[in-house]
Amino acid sequence: MLHTRTRNPSPVPDVNWDSGLKEMNETWKGAVGCLGVAIFFIMTIGIIYWQVVDQPNKNWILKGRFSGLIWERSTQTLVVQTLSENKTFAEIDIGNFPVMEQPFVKNLCWLNKTEFCYTWDSVTELKISLDHSFSAGTECYSITWTPIHCDVKLKDCFSMTDVSWYGGATSSAQQWPMNNVNMPLQPFIINNLKSSPSAYGSVLERYFLGSTGIAVLISPDVPVSVSIERNKSFCVETPPSTDMSPLQYTVCVGETIQSVHQEMGSLLYEKQRRLPNTEILWMPLWKHYGISDSAAKLERELRSFHNKLRRLGLGECLIAIDEHSTMLLSNKDHKLTVNQGEKSRRQRRDPYLLKNLNLLITTSPYASVNSEQFQMYLREDKENYWLSLHSKLDGSLSPVLTKWKGQFSVRLNITSKPAIDWYLNTVTSLKNKLGAEYVAFEGVEGNTFIEQSMQPSGGLEDDHYTGFLASLVDKLGNSTIITASTRSNYLPIFVQMSPLHSDWSYTGLKGIIPSVLHYSLLGYNYFIPDAIGGTFSGEFLTDEELFIRWLQIVTFLPVMSFNTPPWVCCDDWVLNLTRQYIQKHQDFVIPLLTKYADEWLSLGTPIYRPVWWISPNDPLAFMVDDEFLIGDEVLVAPITKQGDVHRDIFLPGSSYQWVDMKTSQVFDGGTLLKNYRCSLLEIPVFVKKTS
Ligand SMILES: *[C@@H]1O[C@H](CO)[C@@H](O)[C@H](O)[C@H]1NC(C)=O
Ligand SMILES: *[C@@H]1O[C@H](CO)[C@@H](O)[C@H](O)[C@H]1NC(C)=O
Ligand SMILES: *[C@@H]1O[C@H](CO)[C@@H](O)[C@H](O)[C@H]1NC(C)=O
Ligand SMILES: *[C@@H]1O[C@H](CO)[C@@H](O)[C@H](O)[C@H]1NC(C)=O
Ligand SMILES: *[C@@H]1O[C@H](CO)[C@@H](O)[C@H](O)[C@H]1NC(C)=O
Ligand SMILES: *[C@@H]1O[C@H](CO)[C@@H](O)[C@H](O)[C@H]1NC(C)=O
Repeated sequence: MLHTRTRNPSPVPDVNWDSGLKEMNETWKGAVGCLGVAIFFIMTIGIIYWQVVDQPNKNWILKGRFSGLIWERSTQTLVVQTLSENKTFAEIDIGNFPVMEQPFVKNLCWLNKTEFCYTWDSVTELKISLDHSFSAGTECYSITWTPIHCDVKLKDCFSMTDVSWYGGATSSAQQWPMNNVNMPLQPFIINNLKSSPSAYGSVLERYFLGSTGIAVLISPDVPVSVSIERNKSFCVETPPSTDMSPLQYTVCVGETIQSVHQEMGSLLYEKQRRLPNTEILWMPLWKHYGISDSAAKLERELRSFHNKLRRLGLGECLIAIDEHSTMLLSNKDHKLTVNQGEKSRRQRRDPYLLKNLNLLITTSPYASVNSEQFQMYLREDKENYWLSLHSKLDGSLSPVLTKWKGQFSVRLNITSKPAIDWYLNTVTSLKNKLGAEYVAFEGVEGNTFIEQSMQPSGGLEDDHYTGFLASLVDKLGNSTIITASTRSNYLPIFVQMSPLHSDWSYTGLKGIIPSVLHYSLLGYNYFIPDAIGGTFSGEFLTDEELFIRWLQIVTFLPVMSFNTPPWVCCDDWVLNLTRQYIQKHQDFVIPLLTKYADEWLSLGTPIYRPVWWISPNDPLAFMVDDEFLIGDEVLVAPITKQGDVHRDIFLPGSSYQWVDMKTSQVFDGGTLLKNYRCSLLEIPVFVKKTS
């Protein structure tokens, strides 16, 4: 009963309640729906706003102790800055792959404070890691791009705005800094500048140094191409390839350009440094241009040249003969015949007398196919001593033909053991036969396969030929000279600078100091400058002023090398002047070079230094390309403009005092001497005041 009573009292039928609830529910649901849509819209707009408008254009992606990396979204650049944001080391444009909208990048390796990772979908992966293995003042970021597809071209560009850059490769009009150079995109390998003037030349390292205190070291193992756009940027890229090679480099920053180079430059020579035979510094080098067609005639010429140099009191000299003359002499049968009657006459032509001539002989790893030697090599089964291609049909070898000195030639296979043993023996016996201490190797540069548009293989990619040849030449002792070099600045080898034009431009006289600074910065302190007056044209110089200004610069370089004899180009008194400068080289310059050679051996500091070495915070110092320092105690500031007898001289180092060698006047460092007077017979030299 109770049950039924409690059930009945409900006055409102269930149906009514139900329908009322239903009506209310629908209105509410509609409102909620509308609200939802509105919220959704607001959120979408908010997100879009946040993503596109409000989101900061910059964000830190990695922070070190004093520096860090900022991702700048609008320009797609990576900015290397101090944490206090008061100094920018470099801006790296990394947005050079085909993705239209750059998203907000966030670290996919966020668990690790020293790493940054990001992936651009199906294009490329980026990984940056902070490297702590350097000293406290230096911080390094190792940057690796890995393509995900084989048609991805990776390209990073380093801005040259407000940064002066040094290092990299030589060019036919050498500049210091390299900001003023234009170079089309091309493989970053050494070429012969005489035949390819718009290519990279003779001394090349994958190392760039910026005036803000930054160094860039590109990984050695992957082929890269480099372009330079004047005053704008230089770009490093890896071509698309099936190997999907990564683009990898390390960026290091420090307090000054000098301190960063001290730290990073040592990575360019990880091996024990050794000095070449410095006897050559004492001996002026005279080029002999023989056009003789017979060995006997050539010998007569050489002997009379030698006697003339003696007679004129030019001291002990070396006479350099070219490859053709070397071949001519070596082909001559020099067997000593002890024939009673003719003994004295024969001995005059005897090879043992050639020894007294102090010859510097020249050779190359090429053999002309027209030469008698080449026929002989074929007969002696040496055809596989040369760079060859395998026939796909029968596997036979055919040598790759290239042009060398105007002749179709083959090039030594530097990776073949029998070939290099044979080559070393040949050069050694040539040296002995001609009694020559010094040997110059030409034709070291260039990649035969790339020149022929072929795919290099067998370890001969990039500049490996040049590298192999340098280590091969090292086996011949410490008196060799090569015409190009990379990753071998620790070897006891001289590097011959590229031929210059006989003019006052950057392809001639004005290019000497930029080259000296470049070579020395990269660790090639033992170079032989191109002969006075330039040898590009192969003709004798006629401009007396150019001869004298050139002579004045070369006096302060390691080896004084002559092409045009002073008695050919100039008045009698110039010969006198030449003698005086040779004397000055021996009395003043060589002792300095010897002193700083020790510093180079122990610390890796360049012997020839730019003025920014001791003025690393003075913006003026970065543009000075017509002065150099020997160590940090002698400043040489030659005249490099035709007709000038005045120049401005930047005296570096605000804590230094400089003594003018001519007048003994003392000047403060960190100043600019305006209109310093200097006659044709003088070269301004300042010595650091000690005490
Ligand atoms: C930047 O700021 C730091 C600390 O705030 C200071 O030590 C440094 O000298 C500044 N550098 C420059 C270039 O102003
Ligand atoms: C971060 O990654 C680096 C390189 O992979 C590694 O050496 C380091 O130990 C990692 N650090 C942490 C905290 O996981
Ligand atoms: C490049 O910059 C230097 C120094 O700022 C300037 O002297 C030179 O004229 C510039 N060259 C060009 C082609 O703009
Ligand atoms: C060069 O080699 C010769 C002979 O091997 C040696 O006597 C000389 O000391 C070496 N010179 C240098 C600078 O190492
Ligand atoms: C060089 O010689 C080596 C050893 O004989 C051989 O394997 C290689 O294919 C040769 N390279 C070229 C480019 O001829
Ligand atoms: C050469 O120099 C010497 C002194 O060094 C001098 O006596 C001589 O007159 C000079 N000769 C010429 C032609 O200038």
